[in-house]
Parts: sequence; structure tokens; C-alpha cells
Amino acid sequence: MKTKLTELLNIDFPLIMAPMFLVSNEAMVTAGMKSGIAGSFPSLNYRKDSELEELLDKLNIEKSKLTVKGTYGINLIVQKTNPLFEKHLKICVAKKVPFYITSLGSPKEVIEQAHSYGAKVFCDVTNLAHAQKCFELGCDGFIAVGQGAGGHAGPNPLQILVPSLQHKFPNTPVIAAGGVANGAGILSMLALGAAGVSMGTRFIACTEASVSDDYKKAIVDSKMHDIVLTEKISGTPCTIINTPFAKKIGYKQNWMERSLSNNSRTKKYFKMWVQLSGMKKLEKSVKPGNYNTLWCAGQSVELIEDILPCKVIVERIEKETQQAYTDLQTMIQ
Ligand SMILES: Cc1cc2nc3c(=O)[nH]c(=O)nc-3n(C[C@H](O)[C@H](O)[C@H](O)COP(=O)(O)O)c2cc1C
Repeated sequence: MKTKLTELLNIDFPLIMAPMFLVSNEAMVTAGMKSGIAGSFPSLNYRKDSELEELLDKLNIEKSKLTVKGTYGINLIVQKTNPLFEKHLKICVAKKVPFYITSLGSPKEVIEQAHSYGAKVFCDVTNLAHAQKCFELGCDGFIAVGQGAGGHAGPNPLQILVPSLQHKFPNTPVIAAGGVANGAGILSMLALGAAGVSMGTRFIACTEASVSDDYKKAIVDSKMHDIVLTEKISGTPCTIINTPFAKKIGYKQNWMERSLSNNSRTKKYFKMWVQLSGMKKLEKSVKPGNYNTLWCAGQSVELIEDILPCKVIVERIEKETQQAYTDLQTMIQ
């Protein structure tokens, strides 16, 4: 299959295995590359000294041995509150990471550095105003993050966000993210004008993911109405499974938390603290035997029925996309 995304990234199938904090790992990204798609992971999954460098060396070796067209990319949280941003960007540039996904802030520095050696940069956007800024900075594509996506979901449905981005920025590829977990979903996004899909939640239920079996089972068992938005993890609304612990701690920041994150003097440090303590809560949650669970997932849990190796998931999605295309042709003859 050929789309602007397969051409830009030199991959066989227009799918990005989305970056997922604490979930994405070397095994998943390698399996993604070997299956002819783009694997990706957040740099923040590798925070200890030299971990990120070592991983990038391994991924570059794996990429050089590929017999299919696959690649990998890295997600950088570009928000000022990420204390590792500069350090991680420097490492990624030195290791010539093939592509970047930026989230939560200005991608300026990443675009400048990545373009210095020909890497591509896709920016997470949830609306046209943010897309405009990324476009002016020279991004290579948008990741349109829509309603119901896992993580920091956007407020807008992809059926509106994808075509409106395409209309306003006709030469910039749009990658749809949120609520897609099978081939029919991919085909529908291509029909809307997307150049590909970035899929997260489906890949939490894979054998390789670095999370507890309980979390993976919860992905399979949950339905779309079990997903709620909480501000308790990072301050920005984030989708999670509505576990008893999530209910207990509530979903909204209280009055004091809101004023600390709006006050120009306390904003930066308070947000940093919220994010750090949210990260710690999530870290505990993904480990086995923890009952204070905060499990991040999108509404596509409704469509996920099994825990499978990444390679099998990708093969199945490819077949489903082809089948959905054939079915559609029969239907609209
Ligand atoms: C568990 C989990 C963790 C995530 N962590 C990140 C992250 O660290 N950085 C990021 O840019 N997006 C993150 N996301 C969002 C995904 O990259 C992607 O946009 C989203 O999963 C797409 O929607 P879907 O889950 O419905 O497929 C995360 C999503 C999930 C489910």
C-alpha cells in the first residue's frame, strides 16, 4: 500500500505503532519494524543514564538488517516541564533517529535539529490553531489526535479533524490517532484523507508490552463506556480505565491545584510536580500486584478481544484493511 506516509517513512504499510509511556519497549518497536510498519516509543521510557543511547544503537542495527520496509521513531515531550528534553534530543540527533513525534508544546527545536540530517517530524495536534503553528515551523506531518484516543485525547472527532486539516494544509500528511484498532478503522481514516494511522491502545494488549497481565486483561475486558478522562495524572485530560482507584481519587483538579497551575509564578514548578507524581502513580500501576490502578487506555478497548504478539496484530490489521476495501467495493457497486 502506498500513501504519503509510506513514502515519507519508507515503510510497507501506513501504520505507526504509537508511542506509549511505560508500555512501548524495544521488543515492540523491533517487532513493528520487522512487520513493515513504524514502531515508536517515548524517550521518557528510558530515563536512566545511557539507556536511551544503548537502545538507539540496537534499533539502528535492527533497522539495518531489515528485509522489509520498516522504521522506528521517537516521541519527545517538548513541553518546558520535561527536564530531559534537551538531553534526549541531543542523544537522538547523535544517533540519527529516523523520525520524531512531538507532543505538548512547540516543536521548533526538534524540527530544526531533525531536518539538519533529513529526519522527519510529526506533531501531535488536536486543533487547527496548533496545526498552523507546527506548519509554520515546517513540520513534515500532523498526528491528528481525536476524541477517545488513548492518553491526552483531543476534543474533536477524527471525522472532522482529519478532513479539516487536509483541507487547510493540503500538502502536509495527516496521520489519524484515536479509536482505530482494526483494518476497517484504517480504511475509514484513509477515506477521510489521512495518509496513515497511529495506533496505541490496540498494542497495549500485545505479548511484548512491558505492563502487567492484569492491565492487558483490563484492555480486553473493558468497554468504551469504561473509559473516562482524568486531570489527575498530568494536569491535562488523559483517558484511563475507570478502575475503583480512579473513581476514588476523582477526575478533576481541585480549586487549589487549578490556581497553582494557572499562576504565572508557580505554574511551571507545580505542573512539573503534578507530572512527576502522576508518572510515579502510573509506574506503580503498570506493575503486577498493584491495586491502586491508573491504567491509561482509549475507547478502542471496545474492539480489542485478545492479547497477541505485535507481528500477528499487524498481519491481521493488514488483512482486515484489504478485506474492508473489498467489502466496500462490493457494497457500493
Ligand atoms: C498507555 C498510553 C500511553 C501513552 N503515552 C504517550 C506518550 O508518552 N506520548 C505521546 O505523545 N502519546 C502517548 N499516548 C498517545 C498515543 O501515542 C496515541 O496518540 C494514542 O494511543 C492513539 O489513540 P488510540 O489509543 O485510540 O489508538 C499514549 C497512549 C496510551 C494508550
